[in-house]
Amino acid sequence: MKKVIVFTGAGVSAESGIKTFRASDGLWEEYRVEDVATPGAWQKDKELVLRFYNERRKQVMSANPNNAHIALAELQNYFDVQIITQNIDDLHERAGSKKVLHLHGEILKARSTANPALVLDLIGEELNIGDKCELGSQLRPHIVWFGEAVPNMELANIIAEKADIFIVVGTSLNVYPAAGITEFVSDNAEKYLIDPNADKLNVPYGFKVIASNACDGVLALVNKLIK
Ligand code: OAD
Repeated sequence: MKKVIVFTGAGVSAESGIKTFRASDGLWEEYRVEDVATPGAWQKDKELVLRFYNERRKQVMSANPNNAHIALAELQNYFDVQIITQNIDDLHERAGSKKVLHLHGEILKARSTANPALVLDLIGEELNIGDKCELGSQLRPHIVWFGEAVPNMELANIIAEKADIFIVVGTSLNVYPAAGITEFVSDNAEKYLIDPNADKLNVPYGFKVIASNACDGVLALVNKLIK
């Protein structure tokens, strides 16, 4: 079976009603990264950080997978599909994708501040000050903040090297090391990039651009690939 690797960003979930980061009405216009998404922010104001991610979690829980997530899950009937996502939502999983690697963490999980290997599913909607792991330390969101290492990056790059077909969907390719993954894709792979604002992006060499929103663009490409 041919290997299809799909690298997704916030744009794949935009049509599920989850805001992207860098649009004019995006999250990073509303909040400053350094206030809510860095180790320094956590040191300074845990309550604000927890509130920010509690809000993100609430939004994710009330959102549903869209036709792009669903079409990518259907692609598994024809190809060996691996999703590599920068998104912290679980919409690929809920659409039925079996192999999903999260680069920037998962909003529906919490992590011990004493032992990073201790990761728990978040049962309730909120994570608050005083919520502790079994070692007695405060739980933090299971999110990779700016300035932190990306533990799954090496694995993601190794997976990318094996792609027969590599598809990028809905990412501004602004955030490294994640965006560097395209450099690991073989010259021989078929490469596509789907984004309605592709003309504003630094499209990596060799990628065929589909300048369309995720739902339309992914559906069109999936139909083409399975023919
Ligand atoms: P961005 O907000 O930087 O980029 C979103 C991309 O989605 C843009 O290129 C948009 O043009 C595109 N887009 C918008 N609507 C779309 C739609 N309906 N269909 C398809 N594409 C659409 O988000 P990311 O590239 O995902 O990290 O951001 C990367 C990382 O930066 C995130 O994982 C997050 C953020 O800060 C952390 O928080 C660590």
